[in-house]
This record gives sequence, C-alpha cells and structure tokens, in this order.
Amino acid sequence: MSSSSPYRVLFVCLGNICRSPAAEIIFNAAAKKAGLSGCVCADSCGTASYHTGSRPDSRMLAALERAGYSYGGHRARTFRRADFSDFDLIIPQDHANEEDILYLSRSAEDAAKVRGMWNWFSPSESEHEVPDPYYGGPAGFDAVVALLARSMENLLRDARLPFNRDRQ
Ligand code: 4NP
Repeated sequence: MSSSSPYRVLFVCLGNICRSPAAEIIFNAAAKKAGLSGCVCADSCGTASYHTGSRPDSRMLAALERAGYSYGGHRARTFRRADFSDFDLIIPQDHANEEDILYLSRSAEDAAKVRGMWNWFSPSESEHEVPDPYYGGPAGFDAVVALLARSMENLLRDARLPFNRDRQ
C-alpha cells in the first residue's frame, strides 16, 4: 500500500441490507471522527443476491438514524471473486458469511484478507459474531448498531492495520 492509496475495507453479510451497510456507515463516520477519511475507504456487499439493487432495510436505517448516523445511498450488491483483489481487508459479520467467502477464495493471500468482525469485539461482549437482526424487532437492530459502533472504535485503533502503522 502506498501512502497515497486508501486502505480498502469491505464489510460482508448475507443480504447486504442490514448488518454490512450499517457497518459501512458506522465505519465511515468513525473514520471521519478519527481523522482517517483520506486513509481508508469502505464498501459493503452480501454473500446472497436476493436483495441486489435494494436500499438498506428501513428498520436498519431507522436504527442508524436513532443512533445519529445518516444513510449515504448504498444499494445492495453480491460478493464477487474480484473483491479479493479490490480490497485489502474483507470483514464478514458472522461465521456463515466467513465460510461462504473463504469457499470463494483463490489463494492463501485471498484467505488472509478475511477477518471476522468479532476480531474487534471488546472482551466484555457476549456475542461471538454480529447477530442477524432480520427476523426480529427494533431492539435487535439497535443492538447491532451499538455493537458495531463499539467494535469499529477498536478496529480503527488496531495498531496491526497499515493506516495506523503509517500514522505512528
Ligand atoms: P443482513 O440481513 O445479512 O444483515 O443484510 C439479512 C437480510 C435478508 C435476509 C436475511 C438476513 N433474508 O433472508 O432475506
């Protein structure tokens, strides 16, 4: 990575309408707050294509709005093998997403880019992945937003990631 090219992060969930677009929005807001906007960029996608072209789920947009975040216009898309070349870090939201992405990896180099969101959970979290809120009520969406916000702070401070090493 040269100092002029942003570090590219891809958040992945199943449908790309709940967790991963929320992760992308929260990551961008946290990066801006940390003064990292020019050093990182983010996108999101799903392992399944049922919702391709859709806006994020209105229940997730409402939860994001309640937490003070705003939607930037993302439309759902499906994960593709080229994403292994187009991104530096690929972050599945749950273990099934991780398995589905690793199945598509073409090399050890591709696989090494895949690191689950739970790698940045604080030790006090009771969750071991980002839970799927799709079939539940509003509290589940709020809980996902709060979990992602707490974890994103850890990700953006992770000294192993190049955008932080470059700053030190
Ligand atoms: P996401 O949530 O993977 O966080 O976007 C879901 C979205 C859609 C479905 C399941 C989960 N679905 O079954 O359609």
